[in-house]
Amino acid sequence: MRVLVTGGAGYIGSHTLIELMALDHEVCVLDNYVNSSPVVLDRVRSMSNGLVSAVEGDVRDSAVLKRVMQDFRPEAVIHFAGLKAVGESMARPLEYYDVNLHGTMALLRAMDQIDCKRMIFSSSATVYGEPDYLPFDEDHPTQPTSVYGRTKLLSERAISDWATVRGGSGVLLRYFNPVGAHPSARLGEDPDGVPDNLMPYIAQVAVGKRAEVSVFGDDYDTPDGTGMRDYIHVVDLARAHVAALDYAASTPGVRTFNIGTGDSYSVLDMIKAFAQAAKRDIPYTVAPRRDGDIAKMQADPSRAKAELGWQARHTLADMAQSTWNWQRANPDGYRQSEG
Ligand code: NAD
Ligand code: WQD
Repeated sequence: MRVLVTGGAGYIGSHTLIELMALDHEVCVLDNYVNSSPVVLDRVRSMSNGLVSAVEGDVRDSAVLKRVMQDFRPEAVIHFAGLKAVGESMARPLEYYDVNLHGTMALLRAMDQIDCKRMIFSSSATVYGEPDYLPFDEDHPTQPTSVYGRTKLLSERAISDWATVRGGSGVLLRYFNPVGAHPSARLGEDPDGVPDNLMPYIAQVAVGKRAEVSVFGDDYDTPDGTGMRDYIHVVDLARAHVAALDYAASTPGVRTFNIGTGDSYSVLDMIKAFAQAAKRDIPYTVAPRRDGDIAKMQADPSRAKAELGWQARHTLADMAQSTWNWQRANPDGYRQSEG
């Protein structure tokens, strides 16, 4: 299938390209590299059949979108491009609505120009907000507590309404906490500056770039008092997109899927798993709770298993080991790289 991958140079997008190309899908990336670099695509080319076409451009730019649609004529779009920092979204709400919501709408309009009817969308478990019950199933009420979460929920709704009117297929994938790296250690997460997220922070402590992990709160109502999340290996997450493409090809309408393992681990579990993978101590101290954090998130991934035929395969040890291998091989991420 010809698949347009917006944000394909990013963390999740790059891993997804590898899975798509392994199954002989034809891919074209649209990315403005605001949070990535073309070097990532050079690596993807060197790890695959090399046939990755790429257009540098903004997903809100209707002229660029029109050109890509007419030249590449995608049969499906996987839409990763967007901004994802929760804290930043509260400080710069209009930028987040613009890139995430208007970006999605511009893309749908451009798809209409060539009658492209399949959209796979990167949503987030953050759309659920505070849990009424756990694990979260897809029917759990959505009450996002951040601007970022609201841009994802509104984008989901725009895609639903579009699919209904156009007879299209929209697959809304609500990711839980993506972590890990490609087993080759050539692709991984490369945050700019101080990592917001736990796993890349632990990795930078392990490699000696930061002194210690701050554990945000040890008085939650969880077995060890630290926050618990459903961490999902990025290669499993990438595979979910391939399954979603097949699903969209045969199923019109909109369907939402949780993409998680169904397990959850605490901050201390993650530090311990990483220390075992890296075979070194990971120093940490307990700090105050982080504003807006919730005690626990966990997916019920049974719908994805039943309807997409997808389930996570990687263990916590795989997540920690692959992150460590990536971090150790690329201590400065893609920045030092020649490709
Ligand atoms: P990422 O920042 O690594 O990748 C996003 C890509 O989109 C980057 O290459 C960036 O340059 C590009 N991009 C951003 N704005 C753009 C624009 N206006 N036009 C064109 N390209 C643009 O992030 P990621 O972790 O790979 O996340 C991918 C998607 O998954 C995002 O939509 C994110 O919100 C969503 N998501 C991520 C997580 C997570 O924790 N990583 C969790 C749930 C959902
Ligand atoms: C995980 C746990 C922290 C850092 C975020 C977004 C969410 C989604 C994924 C995009 C929590 C604790 C963290 C640290 C810590 N992204 N922690 N010390 O907050 O679950 O989710 O990323 O859609 O929308 O909100 O992930 O990795 O930041 O935190 O103790 O230095 O680790 O308190 O319990 P989170 P995270």
